[in-house]
Amino acid sequence: MPKPVPSNGIPRHVAIIMDGNGRWARERKLPRSAGHRQGVEALRGAVRTAADLGIEYLTIYSFSSENWARPPAEVSFLLDLLRRFIRTDVAELHRAGVRITVIGERDGLDAGIVELLEDAERLTRENTRFRLVVAFNYGSRQEITRAARVIARKVAEGKIDPGDIAPAVLANHLDTGGIPDPDLLIRTGGEQRLSNYLLWQCAYTEFIFIPEYWPDFSAEVFRRAVAEYGSRERRFGGLNAQTA
Ligand code: FPP
Repeated sequence: MPKPVPSNGIPRHVAIIMDGNGRWARERKLPRSAGHRQGVEALRGAVRTAADLGIEYLTIYSFSSENWARPPAEVSFLLDLLRRFIRTDVAELHRAGVRITVIGERDGLDAGIVELLEDAERLTRENTRFRLVVAFNYGSRQEITRAARVIARKVAEGKIDPGDIAPAVLANHLDTGGIPDPDLLIRTGGEQRLSNYLLWQCAYTEFIFIPEYWPDFSAEVFRRAVAEYGSRERRFGGLNAQTA
């Protein structure tokens, strides 16, 4: 159970749903791809700002399990953008001390993309300055289901006693095992939902929904969200200091 901590600090872990690329492009009479391309620029800025602010973990929703339902041309554009991001940015991220971790389902993915992602993880494995967690082909229900399957297999093999299955056991079997839960989740683009993102991990996370489209997510917008987080009181189901 997490301990109540004063919230007027910097969040250790921020999770982001980068929404609104398409609408950003439409308002400018540009193709959706232009919005996604600008979204990558916003992502580069967000990583820099997060590290500057002293945030230790940033988890980004780059492609959800449900995004395959988009038109094939958009899917292949997004996959290509991810490929290019990894190819062009990993060396610089590595130099800056960033460790890259990818969460999400890998089975059934194009082998070339899996290799690229795993190379990035392997190259940056020892870095400790900052952790960038890329949720790719990620869906929270799918992640929990996969964890349940692994645990069930261990029970069947006699490696785990069903009575020992505690929340921490399940948490350790998720793709995010070993990564602290997000303190703050930011969703851009005005929608107020989780969209199958980090459902287990966000049990006590503070949510901030902002109207700006993702390509407009500047350092200033990020700092404002972090300041709002700092003004919130986190109780984790307990009482505030005064009442207690
Ligand atoms: C949501 O905007 C955004 C996505 C589905 C993809 C997010 C991807 C990026 C920001 C760039 C790629 C990331 C990497 C790591 C290369 P939307 O298309 O749903 O926008 P809309 O709601 O306005 O249509």
